[in-house]
Amino acid sequence: MELDEVLRRRRSVRSFSPQDVEPEKVEALLWAAERAPSAGGLNARHFVVVRDRETKRRLREAALDQSFVEEAPVVIVCCCDLKRIRPYGRRGVELYTIQDVAASAENILLKAVDLGLGGVWVGAFREEEVKRILSLPPHLRPTAMICVGYPAQP
Ligand SMILES: Cc1cc2nc3c(=O)[nH]c(=O)nc-3n(C[C@H](O)[C@H](O)[C@H](O)COP(=O)(O)O)c2cc1C
Repeated sequence: MELDEVLRRRRSVRSFSPQDVEPEKVEALLWAAERAPSAGGLNARHFVVVRDRETKRRLREAALDQSFVEEAPVVIVCCCDLKRIRPYGRRGVELYTIQDVAASAENILLKAVDLGLGGVWVGAFREEEVKRILSLPPHLRPTAMICVGYPAQP
């Protein structure tokens, strides 16, 4: 799809069809995430793909009960990597790694549109709870969840 068309079509999708997302499409979303620029090319970010219903249920609770977090076939939890960004000191931790993740998150949403999928960026969640649910090590800070699936309405 033409870039302008992708940009025109993108909007937050919070209602998904029950159709599952093909593994190669999830791979394509992750590829798009990694194509985003990152500070110093350090790629100070990490992505956790969640498809398991029970884990998504717990993520929904952590995300202030936003029901589409559980209903989306795929949830990509985007994390800052506080270890990899260390060469940039405080500015790296407070700014660059967060921007690295944000750039990736937008790429995921745009690629989703290109693949006929839809998604929504979720920022409202209790971080510590998400870290516990996913057993994340201390240097990974979840800052965004991208819920993806086939839109319920075209
Ligand atoms: C940093 C950030 C956090 C967001 N958090 C949420 C969220 O927790 N729940 C939600 O439903 N939408 C969330 N959104 C999506 C916005 O509500 C949405 O992008 C905005 O209303 C504009 O609508 P559009 O995406 O359809 O253009 C978030 C978007 C961003 C960029």
